[in-house]
Amino acid sequence: MSRFLSANGAHRRLEGWPLVFTVLTTLAILVGTVVEFAPIFLVGGAVEPLETLEPYTPLELAGRDLYIAEGCNNCHSQMVRPFQDEALRYGPASTAAEGAYETPFLWGSKRTGPDLARLGGKYPHLWHVRHMEEPTSTSPGSIMPPYPHLLTTELDLDGLPAKLRGLARLGVPYSQADAAGAVATARAQADSVAAQIVAQGGPDRLADREIVALVAYLQRLGVDAARAAEPEPVTSPDTATVALTR
Ligand code: HEC
Repeated sequence: MSRFLSANGAHRRLEGWPLVFTVLTTLAILVGTVVEFAPIFLVGGAVEPLETLEPYTPLELAGRDLYIAEGCNNCHSQMVRPFQDEALRYGPASTAAEGAYETPFLWGSKRTGPDLARLGGKYPHLWHVRHMEEPTSTSPGSIMPPYPHLLTTELDLDGLPAKLRGLARLGVPYSQADAAGAVATARAQADSVAAQIVAQGGPDRLADREIVALVAYLQRLGVDAARAAEPEPVTSPDTATVALTR
């Protein structure tokens, strides 16, 4: 053993002193950490939010949580990469500025299904309802699993005020009034989304079901970034009707 150590030089010997080795490794990592973090604090914040960026409405937040809970992000990224082929298929590349209020971010890299970063407004609400209930009904041959329970499970909004307050503490600009009125705001937007689904020929029983929250969220994706790119306002049909109280 000792012959082995000396034959392999100083590094081997160092590895033989676990305590010294641990201290030196920790020091090396600490130096790296400081070098990575210092610039962020020196310039006073890593990412400036996009000018047109608005926080999610309470209903969209509820939909986002369903998106995470159902594991949609296991198959769908939300990050258009800066390549020509991606731009042609999905639209302009994603930026950090448009994700400034994302906690946690859902960029991802797994694409069993297409990227969804620029999805908002691509399809009518009813398309999403049908697609979630049975993906092959809108996309023949789809291997996406069906989520029919979203059309029957009651939407739970009770946690929204606490959620908005929590996000406000993380820097998302929700006011106390936004948090206090979150459930009512969400219900109003849910009614509006449900009414549009009916107007598009869909079923008239979804206003208090999970699907309306998910649809509201999906229709919001990429909308703020699109507004930043174009001079005239582009809003998804339902987010326009419910403004957050400020
Ligand atoms: C097992 C992988 C998988 C999971 C999980 C999954 N999807 Fe998909 N998704 C796909 C595939 C594949 C497609 C392309 C075929 C189609 O349109 O159904 C797709 C398509 C889509 C589209 C259409 C995108 C477009 O631009 O045409 C949307 C919207 C979508 N999925 C949303 C969701 C949501 C929301 C969830 C979670 C409730 C989800 N997906 C879960 C695989 C998946």
